[in-house]
Amino acid sequence: MRLISGIQPTSAITLGNYLGALKNFVKLQDELTDVDILVFIADLHAITVPQDKIALKKNIKSLAALYLACGLDPEKVHIFIQSEVPAHNQLGWIMECNGYIGELERMTQFKDKKVKQVAGVSAGLLTYPSLMAADILLYDADLVPVGLDQKQHLELTRNLAERFNSKYGETFKIPEPFIPKVGEKIMSLTDPTKKMSKSDENPKSSIFLLDDINVIKKKIKSAVTDSEASIKYDVEHKPGISNLMTIYACISKQSIQEIEEKYKASTYAEFKEDLAEIVASEIEPIQKKYNALIQSKELDIILDQGRDYANFLAQRKITKIYQKIGIGRKR
Ligand code: TYM
Repeated sequence: MRLISGIQPTSAITLGNYLGALKNFVKLQDELTDVDILVFIADLHAITVPQDKIALKKNIKSLAALYLACGLDPEKVHIFIQSEVPAHNQLGWIMECNGYIGELERMTQFKDKKVKQVAGVSAGLLTYPSLMAADILLYDADLVPVGLDQKQHLELTRNLAERFNSKYGETFKIPEPFIPKVGEKIMSLTDPTKKMSKSDENPKSSIFLLDDINVIKKKIKSAVTDSEASIKYDVEHKPGISNLMTIYACISKQSIQEIEEKYKASTYAEFKEDLAEIVASEIEPIQKKYNALIQSKELDIILDQGRDYANFLAQRKITKIYQKIGIGRKR
């Protein structure tokens, strides 16, 4: 069985990325046996919108260090940088040629991101899910752990794979998404009807894993709730407190019911005080490990090994795909 996932190095990652995706990579790594896991840094995806090149370089390295600091074990997981494995682009092009503009235009993430691109919408922003499909299909992955916002892209990946298989013969495995039951969509702290996002203009909306611990606590304490002051899970009517309860549940591993019971006589301020401590005690050790790793040579060795392994698998697969389509000279 093989598992693959990636995160874009567009800025420091958020608590949403951590609880919706990264924490699950670690969980699956620890729970599954006989599994081959690849986790990459999706730097090619990052340039679908303008990036500052110095910041991008820094964020790529920073994400690699965060992967390890959050608990990915390089003995069990192959960590690599997407742009160092050229077959992603090679298959990405083939996926573009097998996808339709109409289906790409229907992607909600494209529709959301497009309106923010005042200087023009890149063609890459539209075709991005074709590259994402390539990232997955190249490795015949069985399982793709992601947050809810990637579900639609996973469905498209499955459609593209099935279309290719019926056109050219059995080539790709059809991957399954793995979306966590709790934490699939962590919401903004200032507007809990919106997803917590790296690119939110208001820094108070998102907790970044590399935020100062006191800043993290402050952000939690000032998170938007409601005027009812009862700690009850009700996403529709009480999205703010429900989101905070989800964060609490993800980290403490207590169920929502247990949390409701525990805090039935508490105020929002008391609950937030506890949550701030819980989040801080989860992130503090990550930051300590991160600070030790970011300066180390170990990081480059791990990324070199990951690149070599990914290239080995990807190169072998792309050769077969070229043969199936009839491009190049090899028969
Ligand atoms: P990205 O970089 O936007 O997000 C990385 C992962 O974090 C999840 N996520 C969230 N989960 C819960 N709550 C949130 N608020 C939240 N925000 C983000 C995302 O669902 C994702 O799992 N296209 C991908 C990267 C990618 C990829 C792939 C993933 C490229 N190729 C192949 C899997 C397989 C993306 O932009 O993720």
